[in-house]
Amino acid sequence: KRPAGAPDRNLARPVTKVGVVGAGLMASQLALLFARRLEVPVVLTDIDQERVDKGVGYVHAEIDKLLLKGRVSNDKANRLKGLVSGSLDKAVAFADADFVIEAVFEEMGVKQKVFAELEQIVQPHTILATNTSSLSVTEMASKLEHPERVVGFHFFNPVAVLPLLEIVRGEKTDDATLATSFSVARTLKKTAVLVKDAPAFVVNRVLTRFLGDVMASIDEGTPVEVADRAVAPLGLPMSPIVLLELVGPAVAHHVSGTLHRAFPDRFRVSENLGRIVEAGKRSIYTYDSGKPEVDPEVAALF
Ligand code: 3HC
Repeated sequence: KRPAGAPDRNLARPVTKVGVVGAGLMASQLALLFARRLEVPVVLTDIDQERVDKGVGYVHAEIDKLLLKGRVSNDKANRLKGLVSGSLDKAVAFADADFVIEAVFEEMGVKQKVFAELEQIVQPHTILATNTSSLSVTEMASKLEHPERVVGFHFFNPVAVLPLLEIVRGEKTDDATLATSFSVARTLKKTAVLVKDAPAFVVNRVLTRFLGDVMASIDEGTPVEVADRAVAPLGLPMSPIVLLELVGPAVAHHVSGTLHRAFPDRFRVSENLGRIVEAGKRSIYTYDSGKPEVDPEVAALF
């Protein structure tokens, strides 16, 4: 059955090579997913060799875990490792890619620059996808010669496990781009939903409201562990603070900033979350004792 709003499947074009801009954790998870499900070459790129190597190393390590669990055969593991490579040269690596997805720093200017550079490199039909968590796909495409090829592809952490994919149609995204996107999503075995290009789309708007209110209660003086445990009876798969760590404090902070600017009466930006990000902390708890305890360095910030 065609998902709501998806165009005619016949408009979909084949994808035979994928490019990933960025080699951080999200980008590496995407590289693994695309290689595993599409079984086409996937090239990870970043600004220096160390980052590229780290990204490819992550993918190889995850493939080894799949092998150990018996989820892939020895042959398939080797084939997958061969499909994923790294490069510093986008012009060469992406020249014959049909689908390029970016997962770089969550800032409009940075993402627009990436797309402007890609437009000079890729083929006329190549789709440019963004894994942005909250930014406008229309604005991201607005300075391009061919904004009709830009689409939002918003995955959820951990990418290998969570089935949802928000596909975001920008104002100018055309039907062929969208049909190809849905076809790719099907091959990725994700449940794709077509969402409007609105601040933080659907899921992050809801999630940010929830995590934002937990952080607000901490800003108001409720101890972290108390606020975190208070919502456990709601039956969530993980506690809000652990989820915040999974999303990453910097991403959560960015998304809440986007939503605050769009709806200042409904979203506020947590002061404590801002301090965590400014201090460069990626987690709130330490797990040294085997159970989560607030990191003393984080506690000192509050
Ligand atoms: N990477 C890869 N695989 C992972 C993983 C990770 N980070 N974390 C867990 N997994 C795998 C495990 O290996 C295990 O696989 P297996 O069945 O093959 O052994 C499977 O997931 C289940 O893991 P566990 O049994 O250890 O733990 P749980 O059953 O508690 O599930 C969870 C873990 C799936 C992470 C679950 O706690 C969950 O769904 N949490 C909520 C996550 C969520 O809401 N994410 C959305 C965040 S919003 C977002 O990403 C958008 C962005 O824009 C901000």
